[in-house]
Parts: sequence; C-alpha cells; structure tokens
Amino acid sequence: MIVELKKITKYYKNSEGSEKRIILDDLSLSIENGESIAVVGPSGSGKSTLLNVLSSLDTCNSGSITFNGQNLSELNGKELAIFRNQNLGFVFQSHHLLPQLSLIENVLLPFIPVKDRRLKKEAEKRALELLSYVGLSNQIHQRPGQMSGGECQRAAVVRALIHQPNLILADEPTGSLDKKSAEQLGDLLVNINKKQAVSLVVVTHSMDLAKKMKKIYQLEDGKLVLINNA
Ligand SMILES: Nc1ncnc2c1ncn2[C@@H]1O[C@H](COP(=O)(O)OP(=O)(O)O)[C@@H](O)[C@H]1O
Ligand SMILES: [Mg+2]
Repeated sequence: MIVELKKITKYYKNSEGSEKRIILDDLSLSIENGESIAVVGPSGSGKSTLLNVLSSLDTCNSGSITFNGQNLSELNGKELAIFRNQNLGFVFQSHHLLPQLSLIENVLLPFIPVKDRRLKKEAEKRALELLSYVGLSNQIHQRPGQMSGGECQRAAVVRALIHQPNLILADEPTGSLDKKSAEQLGDLLVNINKKQAVSLVVVTHSMDLAKKMKKIYQLEDGKLVLINNA
C-alpha cells in the first residue's frame, strides 16, 4: 500500500468565523500500489480540496495521511516539499507550461538546479523517451503556443513523470480538451499507470474519464462512496 487517508475532516469557517462548512467529513481512503482511482462529484463537492489535502498542499482539521507508513504530519514544510518532489506528479486542468520555453525545456525545468551531470543526462534521456511515448517526438523544440491543447496536456503529463513519481494526481486533466483529445489523454494516463507502475488518482466530473479507472468513488456530503470496482 502506498497511501492511507484516515478519518480526514476539512472545514471552512464562514466570514464571521462562527459556522463551519464541512467539505471532507471523516473521510478514509486507501490507495494500493499501482492502483487507478477516479473521484467524481459535482463542482464544489470538494474534489480539488481532497487532492490538495492528500498531497499536503493544503492542511486538514483532523485525521492522518501516511505514505508507505510515513505520517505526513511529522514532516515540516521543507521536508514536505522534498517528499512531494520525490513521490508525486501533478496534472491540472490547464497545462501550466511556460510559453517562452520549448517542450523539452519545459519538461526538464526541474533539473536546471541539479548539479550532477549524470542525473541531468538520465533526465534528458527519460524526457526524450517519454515525449516519444506520448507522440511528441517531432515537436520537442516547439513552444506551447505552437501546439494544440491536447499536445500541451500530453507534455504536462510528461513533466509530471520526469521525477519518476509513485503517484500521479490529476485534477480535471481533460477539463479543457475537446472530446477526442480528452479520450486520448485519458488513455494515456491509464497506459502510464499500467506500464510505469505509477498509481493514479484522477478527480473529474467526466464519467467517460472516470470509467477508464479501476475504481470509481463518488464524493458525496464529504464522504467517498465506492460506485464501481472493475
Ligand atoms: N479557501 C477556501 N475558503 C473557503 N471555502 C473554500 C476554500 N476553498 C474551497 N472552498 C469551498 O470548498 C468547496 C469545495 O471546493 P473544491 O474542492 O474546489 O470543489 P471541486 O473541486 O469539487 O469543484 C467549495 O464550495 C468551495 O467554495
Ligand atoms: Mg476542482
């Protein structure tokens, strides 16, 4: 098992600080090695909050999160940042590639501060392999502005994989794509999950995307309900 969320509660106080709005309510979830999970639910149901809490980008009010037995609450801010870099890959609704850099430069951006030449070389090799795997070999020197939304989103997936994460967290990854590109991106995420031994959590309101995952949970009243287990 790689991730365990136990009895997570997250609420926001209203502006007067009196009433609580509960977003995640005593929520528990286990994510096994190599598993693919979709979390569906309407806008505002707390899907992004769940991913942010799971990845320690946001705090929760109670409950615990462990990765391979390591309780994240025992780590300080700097340790959490290192933990995220080593273990997690993020994909968002918009690609967040830098417009002034080429695709290959965007993907290798996290390796600019790395001094070790061998590590840099390895990352370059992996970047080229992954860009080829997602069908972008011929466009590595192009800038995001010269590419389609689907191509940029595929490059964003490569960027998420460059650190060889154990877990990919994707928040509405197909939300800005047309139907065909969305279909391709969904298949790509699932193929990566199967071939690269990386676990996958996708939050989405798209049932078409959710159905590609092994398990589908519905986020409802702050709790997860398993609605499909393929
Ligand atoms: N910083 C915040 N302060 C107060 N309420 C928030 C904050 N962030 C999110 N919310 C509320 O939490 C709820 C869940 O938001 P979110 O997790 O973004 O939902 P989803 O991703 O499912 O659309 C929303 O009603 C949102 O308004
Ligand atoms: Mg959201």
